Amino acid sequence: MPTNLLVTGANGQLGNEMQRIVAANPGRVKAFFTDVDTLDITDANAVEAFVQQHSINVIVNCAAYTAVDRAEDDTALCTKLNVDAVVNLAKAARNHGARVLHISTDYVFDGYNCRPYEETDEPNPKSVYGVTKLQGERELLKYATDSIIVRTAWLYSPFGKNFVKTMLALGESRDTLSVVCDQVGTPTAAADLATAIFAIITADEWKPGIYHFSNEGAISWYDFTKAIHRIARISGCTVSPIKSKDYPTRAVRPFYSVLDKTKIKAAYGITIPYWEESLARCIAELKSCN
Ligand SMILES: NC(=O)c1ccc[n+]([C@@H]2O[C@H](COP(=O)([O-])OP(=O)(O)OC[C@H]3O[C@@H](n4cnc5c(N)ncnc54)[C@H](OP(=O)(O)O)[C@@H]3O)[C@@H](O)[C@H]2O)c1
Repeated sequence: MPTNLLVTGANGQLGNEMQRIVAANPGRVKAFFTDVDTLDITDANAVEAFVQQHSINVIVNCAAYTAVDRAEDDTALCTKLNVDAVVNLAKAARNHGARVLHISTDYVFDGYNCRPYEETDEPNPKSVYGVTKLQGERELLKYATDSIIVRTAWLYSPFGKNFVKTMLALGESRDTLSVVCDQVGTPTAAADLATAIFAIITADEWKPGIYHFSNEGAISWYDFTKAIHRIARISGCTVSPIKSKDYPTRAVRPFYSVLDKTKIKAAYGITIPYWEESLARCIAELKSCN
């Protein structure tokens, strides 16, 4: 049976990379790329009608409420998108024999681990964003039990707003910059995540469950910023390490959120690039566009 693929949130970071990977593999899937203007996933009837009308077999949900700090004061909208809309997708999939691949986050964990988080580790989110993403996971599995959930972390890409683009801009415009050094995780190039998702949805076997995916390695935001500037050859900005307590944010973030990727590598034979290689590729692309 041909795969009729629905990608939601296709104008976001990951959605754009899904468009690129599908375009780079012509004929593998018939894809429908939608965003809020063409398919608002908070509209249950619209989701149901779309899945039915286009005989969708696989939904990749790249849409989400991703403004982590704003979510603390915007709980209703965050819940609508990260929980209720996921239920809409799950019910439509269940009603029409489609499968869902949904994206979740390292922020479902509290960050108190001292070894990479495995899929079986107990979540304990500390932010509204993390709480709603965890609820979304659980609701999805209630209605569409054969779903795949891929938790990822620290996403960046040439598209939209992200930490890499912000640090490049600040590095060019500021003499000094202070960045937190006590939060450790792994950056993820959205292009690498899209490649992994494409491998999953075109694999011979659909293996339901929760998987972790980020690039390889572990680093603090401070060290990441130093690497961004080094690779981009930005030398006029002094970057200093500071502690999270000296850089208060509206939402609490995990101190440690490195994800263990053993399961996804074994299940789908995926090779994951080291974070620095992928960062260099993204910066080269951004520079070539300027
Ligand atoms: N970004 C990260 O660092 C990070 C880290 C871990 C996990 N994740 C997860 O990874 C996934 C992809 O993240 P991302 O960074 O690619 O997100 P993103 O760039 O914020 O993209 C999300 C897309 O969803 C769209 N959207 C908003 N409301 C919608 C609606 N009602 N119906 C349909 N689409 C709607 C957004 O449109 P507008 O822009 O117009 O609102 C946007 O195009 C998400 O599940 C996120 O939780 C992200």
